[in-house]
Amino acid sequence: MVQSGRMTAAKRAPQPGAEDLTEHLRDRWSVSVFDQEHELADSEIRLLLEAARWAPSAGNSQPWSFLVLPRGSAGHETFASHLSRGNSGWVPRASAVFVAIAQVGVGPDGDGLTYSDYAYYDLGQAAAHLTVQAASLGLSSHQFAGFDHDAVAAAFGVPDWWRVMIGIAVGRHGDPAQVDPRDAEREERDRVRRPLEETAFTDKWGTPWS
Ligand SMILES: Cc1cc2nc3c(=O)[nH]c(=O)nc-3n(C[C@H](O)[C@H](O)[C@H](O)COP(=O)(O)O)c2cc1C
Repeated sequence: MVQSGRMTAAKRAPQPGAEDLTEHLRDRWSVSVFDQEHELADSEIRLLLEAARWAPSAGNSQPWSFLVLPRGSAGHETFASHLSRGNSGWVPRASAVFVAIAQVGVGPDGDGLTYSDYAYYDLGQAAAHLTVQAASLGLSSHQFAGFDHDAVAAAFGVPDWWRVMIGIAVGRHGDPAQVDPRDAEREERDRVRRPLEETAFTDKWGTPWS
């Protein structure tokens, strides 16, 4: 039986302590089985990009760009050829890949964008906004770094002062029975996190907040 994204999200709800998170944060998880029949509407793609666009950034520098690669497009085919072995099974099934790219310098002619030391931080936040917007549309997402970044930059003509960072696979959750068992197994891993005591400090570094 094909599981709906909503059912699966409920099954995958995070560990105790996160029950009261806002719905789309609570239910987000990185699925590895996408429905390869599902397509994103242009309006959905636009909304995802708007979510990233309206993220905050240092000095409103907006140091982000995205390659938008719907499954079936020439760009998608090019990108898929540069995936790592571990990602080459599940990523191409997603409805689209967004490749997130950070501005890491100023162009030779000055392209109007202000370089910021916080570019990576800002791109990450824009990507997070995109994934939360995806969740609110009932879509699943999975970010991944496992691909040949240099080859992708060359294939798409990314300028030197921009750095290809990650891909974000977006689509509808699929049926694990339809994919390679190795990809289906990826979804069985426990979702765990370090306790807050190890990451939230007060008074002095290492002194737990609570
Ligand atoms: C920058 C970044 C790179 C990642 N690279 C990969 C990857 O190459 N392959 C993969 O399967 N997952 C990748 N992930 C997904 C993480 O493994 C996943 O987010 C983490 O295990 C937590 O699981 P969750 O998102 O379901 O909470 C990446 C995530 C991030 C943010």
